[in-house]
Amino acid sequence: MRVLMVASELFPLVKTGGLADVVGALPRALSRRGHDVRVLVPGYRGVLEAAESPGPPVSLGDPLGVGPTEIIPAKLPGSDTRVYVLRCPSLYDRQGGPYVDPNGHDWGDNHLRFALLARAATIIAVAGAPLGWAPQVVHAHDWQAGLLPAYLQLWGRTRPATVMTVHNLHFAGRFHPALTSAVGLPQSLFSVNGAELYGVMSYLKAGLYFADRITTVSPTYAGEIQTDAHGEGLQGLLSARAPHLHGIINGIDDEVWNPATDPALPAPYDANQIAGKAQAKRELQEKLGMRVDPSIPMFGLVSRLTGQKGIDLVLGNLPLVIDSGAQLVVLGSGAAAYELALSEARRHHPQQIGFYRGYHEPLSHKVMAGSDFVLVPSRFEPCGLTQMYAQRYGSLPIVRHTGGLADTVTDSWAVPSVGTGFSFVDPTNWALGNAMWRGLQTYGTPRYDELQQRAMHRDFGWGPSAKRYEQVYVDALVGPVHLV
Ligand code: ADP
Ligand code: GLC
Repeated sequence: MRVLMVASELFPLVKTGGLADVVGALPRALSRRGHDVRVLVPGYRGVLEAAESPGPPVSLGDPLGVGPTEIIPAKLPGSDTRVYVLRCPSLYDRQGGPYVDPNGHDWGDNHLRFALLARAATIIAVAGAPLGWAPQVVHAHDWQAGLLPAYLQLWGRTRPATVMTVHNLHFAGRFHPALTSAVGLPQSLFSVNGAELYGVMSYLKAGLYFADRITTVSPTYAGEIQTDAHGEGLQGLLSARAPHLHGIINGIDDEVWNPATDPALPAPYDANQIAGKAQAKRELQEKLGMRVDPSIPMFGLVSRLTGQKGIDLVLGNLPLVIDSGAQLVVLGSGAAAYELALSEARRHHPQQIGFYRGYHEPLSHKVMAGSDFVLVPSRFEPCGLTQMYAQRYGSLPIVRHTGGLADTVTDSWAVPSVGTGFSFVDPTNWALGNAMWRGLQTYGTPRYDELQQRAMHRDFGWGPSAKRYEQVYVDALVGPVHLV
């Protein structure tokens, strides 16, 4: 099958979170199954320089009246995946993140930046595609690609099948209804049967309403988003579309996340030769100025520091870390209050608390390898990747029992024969602390080694999930929905 993926992030070209990892790895897994999968990504500053073997640009004209727009065909570094970089300097060539300016504020023209992404995908996808390649299926990821199924339905003629994947329902891509016409959509789209969501226009809602099939990134989250507690106001639509909604768990990219070949680690290791893991811990302790002692139990956390991720629960358990003589290493950035609290904790307890504020890809690998336990206490978590990376790297995950965390971590006290980590249900300091305490009980005992071996031998490869996406593509092709 020919599939065009459309996303705002793509590892290793541009990444702020797990979306990039998924869009980087899934095309390769699908291509191993014989599919021709290409990815359309905005040409932010830096993306064009990093993409390999750029070919001659193909003009798309000026589809939204924002300036000349073209596609640069290229290759994803370190892989055979073909990438279409969407070049539109007036929208993307600027200093800052994919979604926010250097001061951390949303770009004021995000409605245009991501409408153009969907619009360009539409032009590529419909008959007479200028690239000489047209997909049978377009696969839109998150709100940034949400208008794509809407544009294609409105096209009204023969079109490829559309699949919309929700990586995080919390981000709905909300804009003022008056902007509907600016992105080339009829005002009639602003309706409950369309892109309207409680009085605003939502790109995600448009995608969920118009796509032939919907997926999200774990089976548990697929159920949760149909409830009032996690539906973000979209539970009614998602329940109505339940026959077309599938929860497919993310995999991990074995080539990027493998302690036996990881260039970020001081020494390679695997389940049979675990010694290199202690070296990773030592390096981490040295690098972050903490007490250097491989026998100290270490908790690690690599995350965006936001309300979703339960950082307050970790802060609430700093006394447990200090009093038990353990160490905590945090890599991340986000809400100023969390950053400040972590900086203060580090200042008061430099031997035990390590905090690196910012985004650092190699350090994230070192934290997975050097820690004994990896914390993921999220209030909600569509899938979550670090709990899987942790297991691959022989660190036991301590997670809240929600979303994909519930699907990828079994509590080793509740189910001793198969468990590989520790989980808790209530989003309270006490419940996380209890799970951390249970982890510490195993540390330095044969039970820890047993759990570590079991965790490292688990298969989190993309193969089975790629097969499930393939089935969804086939369903969408043979059973499209007709709404307009
Ligand atoms: P989300 O996508 O909600 O942020 P995931 O667990 O799915 O959560 O993915 C997070 C990804 O981002 C992981 O690959 C993780 O290692 C990475 N990551 C998060 N924060 C940082 C950081 N500060 N530095 C490096 N990598 C980070
Ligand atoms: C989102 C979710 C995260 C998921 C990632 C990749 O950012 O918050 O849980 O793992 O997307 O699907």
